[in-house]
Amino acid sequence: MSRRPGPPEVVAPARRLRALLAEAVRALAAAGIPTARLDAEWLLADLLGVDRVALYAGAPGVGEPDAARYAALVARRAGHEPLQRLLGWEEFRGLRLRVAPAVLIPRPETELLVDWALALTPPGATVADVGTGSGCIACALAAERPDVRVIASDGSSAALAVAAENVRALGLEGAVTLRAGDLLEPLAGTAPVDLLVSNPPYIPSDVIASLPREVREWEPRAALDGGEDGMALSRRIIAGAPAVLRAGGALLMEIGEGQAEPLATAMALAGFRDVATRRDLHGVERLIAGWVTAQEPD
Ligand SMILES: C[S@@+](CC[C@H](N)C(=O)[O-])C[C@H]1O[C@@H](n2cnc3c(N)ncnc32)[C@H](O)[C@@H]1O
Repeated sequence: MSRRPGPPEVVAPARRLRALLAEAVRALAAAGIPTARLDAEWLLADLLGVDRVALYAGAPGVGEPDAARYAALVARRAGHEPLQRLLGWEEFRGLRLRVAPAVLIPRPETELLVDWALALTPPGATVADVGTGSGCIACALAAERPDVRVIASDGSSAALAVAAENVRALGLEGAVTLRAGDLLEPLAGTAPVDLLVSNPPYIPSDVIASLPREVREWEPRAALDGGEDGMALSRRIIAGAPAVLRAGGALLMEIGEGQAEPLATAMALAGFRDVATRRDLHGVERLIAGWVTAQEPD
């Protein structure tokens, strides 16, 4: 007895899907995308509304309109548009956050800032997140510590609109307040905060042109450019922070490579004590923290 072949509508989708994926991987690899397969899988899975494993396990059917949409997305990725921009989201500490042209795509090293921030946040604290962008730090803190209130600010109203969407989508409106304005200005007139966190722009201006295309062509300049030596905004935050922190409160910032020493000096000069740094997964000193001196009792 001869084995009957499976019905064509079952076999064909898997073959078609594999062919689409293979073609996409070829195009992305040829364009110099190092994560060609992963990106090809993510784009297709997201388009079809399935997870990546299902591409191989379930082999969902791909109709002509989806195939055309997929080809367009792959072409954009081949032009080095960041994957997260094409997906419209990035995951940050388990939260799915919307990303858009106005905001920096949240980075894994910033998840380490949240780790340290959580350890530094006393119960019921108020935290300020300066330069909130997508709102990733503020949302993660509020989601992981429901006792905490966060004031999140940014100089870009377009970025704040994205942060507002994320705050709303995560149901964190009661915990995160958004404010527009230059650096620490939105904190003027508010009660002193317990912790000030920031991932300010810290790339030296003339280094930006040498960054990968995904960054230099697609990330907002205002999220990258830290001035001539990359530390212009960090220094302004350090200088202004003691006035908005309560006595004994802490400043915690993400910093660029080679900036730990000069910024530690700037913090000491501004009156911070116990200045400490932490390294990222590549061994780079990526975070810096210090405490404003608590007033001695009379
Ligand atoms: C490196 S991004 C960080 C975004 C987000 N906090 C994160 O960690 O992904 C820096 C953010 O600071 C904002 N920014 C730049 N200059 C600013 C200024 N002078 N005042 C307020 N925000 C500023 C940018 O709009 C951008 O959203």
